[in-house]
Amino acid sequence: MPEVELRGIGKRFGKVVASRNIDLKIADGEYLTILGPSGCGKTTLIRMIAGIIEPSEGSVLIGGRDMKGVPIEERDIGYVFQNIALFPHLNALGNVSYGPIVKDMDVRDIEEVPRRYLELVKLLDRMNMFPGELSGGEQQKVSLARALASGAKLLLLDEPLSALDARVRMDLRYELRRITKDLGLTVIHVTHDQEEAMTVSDRIVLMRNGQIVEANTPEQLYLAPKHLFTANFVGETNLLEGTVREILEDRTLVELRDGTVVEARPSSFRRGDAVILSIRPERVHPASQGMRAVVRSITFMGTYIRITVDTDSEDRVNFDVSTSEDRDYNIGDRVDLIWSKRSGTLYPRPPEGVQEAIKLE
Ligand SMILES: Nc1ncnc2c1ncn2[C@@H]1O[C@H](COP(=O)(O)OP(=O)(O)OP(=O)(O)O)[C@@H](O)[C@H]1O
Ligand SMILES: [Mg+2]
Repeated sequence: MPEVELRGIGKRFGKVVASRNIDLKIADGEYLTILGPSGCGKTTLIRMIAGIIEPSEGSVLIGGRDMKGVPIEERDIGYVFQNIALFPHLNALGNVSYGPIVKDMDVRDIEEVPRRYLELVKLLDRMNMFPGELSGGEQQKVSLARALASGAKLLLLDEPLSALDARVRMDLRYELRRITKDLGLTVIHVTHDQEEAMTVSDRIVLMRNGQIVEANTPEQLYLAPKHLFTANFVGETNLLEGTVREILEDRTLVELRDGTVVEARPSSFRRGDAVILSIRPERVHPASQGMRAVVRSITFMGTYIRITVDTDSEDRVNFDVSTSEDRDYNIGDRVDLIWSKRSGTLYPRPPEGVQEAIKLE
């Protein structure tokens, strides 16, 4: 039922184009996240779906019905606002019971449903407290419980976990996905946290400057990003400038600036093309012979050690070694680095320069 379709929607605020040319279909029961840097238009997009702001162009369809002129209260949506926005004159229980009461659910549900969700967010013992008496994180949990208790089949969550501690955020991510899947809800979850997007979603839509860069499953977005911007924003990566030397059936050979030849996946580039090779830190390993580099910094990260090197071709590269590894690294050490040919992805070298192409704005 609540499949959502956006057809060419866009929004201008005076001269600011907050959103443009957005075409997107969200399937009934899908858990979709909208990911992107601050200011890229995520809140604007979700507000247009909710009916809080009218698009400047294009249309929003929910369950096949054009929502033009339909106010938020008639769209049957559970909404978590980025600024939380609880009813200040109602206590926590009152806030969470609001949906069930206005929906005229039966008396038992009005009693039981709000308590169930307050328990889920571990706030049952604070149900009589008013928003002004709750911490920011507690208010956010009440807001989430309110959206879940509303009985709506479509949830719009704008940074629903941003005010919570890392540990609680991880637990609630898991719960959120489990419950919404159990109830068969359609969820559009906005976040700028790529790890959060990766762990809860069926599909991630990556946005930049008001537009969609690409949409895919978390695995595909991480393993095979179609754009340089995605490779850099979703997970960490090393970007090396090079020129295609040879295309073979099982790999592409790329010459770096100092003449070293390294391997990447097979590609449709041609010999001589200017490219950027993207290689994730966890794919890079020290070896007896490979890309030559000098260790510049060593950072203890807990389960692994992050080593940053400068290569002879003047690229900066990060790689990770396990804390349990025997070898010691010191600043100034020379290392040779390799990776499997399947680990390197190639992109056309952007005419505006790499930094411009991956800039978050
Ligand atoms: N009511 C408004 N009037 C004018 N400009 C606006 C308005 N709302 C948003 N904008 C602008 O539109 C752009 C997108 O804003 P939006 O709030 O959608 O970003 P966001 O992706 O949600 O960012 P964040 O991650 O920081 O919440 C920004 O440049 C913002 O300043
Ligand atoms: Mg926002």
